[in-house]
Amino acid sequence: MSAHDENPPAQGGAGGGSVFDRVKRPAGGGGEGAGGGGPEALGTPPAPTDSSQLPEHTSWQQTGVAHRPPRAEDVDRRAERRAERLIAFWFFVSVVGTVLFIVVNFVGDKHEPYYTPLLGTGMGLALAGLGIGMILWAKRLMPHEQAVQDRHPFRSTDEETAVLEEEVALGWKDMGLGRHKVLRRSLLGAGTVLGGLLVVPLLNLTNAKPGKKLDHTHWVKGARMVTGEGRLVKMGDLAIGAIETVFPSVPHVNANGETEWPTHVDLHTKADSATILIRLEPGIDKPRPGREDWGIDGLVAYSKICTHAGCPVSLYEQQTHHLLCPCHQSVFDVPDGCRAIFGPASRSLPQLAIGVDDEGYLIARDGDYTEPIGPAFWERS
Ligand code: FES
Repeated sequence: MSAHDENPPAQGGAGGGSVFDRVKRPAGGGGEGAGGGGPEALGTPPAPTDSSQLPEHTSWQQTGVAHRPPRAEDVDRRAERRAERLIAFWFFVSVVGTVLFIVVNFVGDKHEPYYTPLLGTGMGLALAGLGIGMILWAKRLMPHEQAVQDRHPFRSTDEETAVLEEEVALGWKDMGLGRHKVLRRSLLGAGTVLGGLLVVPLLNLTNAKPGKKLDHTHWVKGARMVTGEGRLVKMGDLAIGAIETVFPSVPHVNANGETEWPTHVDLHTKADSATILIRLEPGIDKPRPGREDWGIDGLVAYSKICTHAGCPVSLYEQQTHHLLCPCHQSVFDVPDGCRAIFGPASRSLPQLAIGVDDEGYLIARDGDYTEPIGPAFWERS
């Protein structure tokens, strides 16, 4: 066994131990400071780092590392401590920002004007504090040196270029385009037509805009409510706490002069007119001003199309009277006019005024919704 094997370097020394040990006890054996573990004297230089101790790292020509003039933090322990405290302060600011964000998120009222600005301030402080602390750490405490490495030439050698040219020429020859005229022309034709793919999407920009079409649904005055299974809904069909998805059954007069109520719902009607009919317990509905008679006997009807991104709002919590959109978890409070109380939706679900006709069927009393259904985007269009 060699002498080196018999005497391995001590843990944490300049050459031994893990990288973590070396970080904890940098070269020079100082451990906590230049004095080797004793109380450090203020004004003394801080402990040197590994890289500053290695002789091969001190020459520009040999290694490409250039040391800059020492900073105050490199030569004075007090300056180093001041920098530490400053950096710790910014990390603390980051913690404060994070706590602020969490508290506002869980305790704040999202309908108050302070809510979003405070959330933004909290997140801004959290990110800025962390970022500023890291920058200060890098600038004031990390080794102050500049590493330079020569770039290898980009150009290929003449030999490599010649080989490539030769390979391309051979490949071209192997394709046989010179010999196969038909192939050459049909390939040219296919390539030209393929270029049309670039033009067609641009032509689509000239399509007619939807205009006001999207502001209206298929609900008309007197339309009965029909389920997806084709059953016309009557007063009393829904028990208290029950919920039903309904669509408009628009009456028309047949060849015999009789009024008919179609029970088949086409896709277009399903897409924009889906409505949720809910029977609330008596007395808990708090209708908006002017909508006191839009419900009947605890029955209220709201658009099923979420005002966030248009998903069907289909989960009803009977105990809390909340409607939940499964796409992004927006929650609507039914007795409060289906107000959006949680999640990304910011607009209440539009309400449909309902009534009952002579035969006891539920109908759209006044016709269509009074506001556009679906994503709030349409309000701004
Ligand atoms: S579509 Fe309903 S929450 Fe997004």
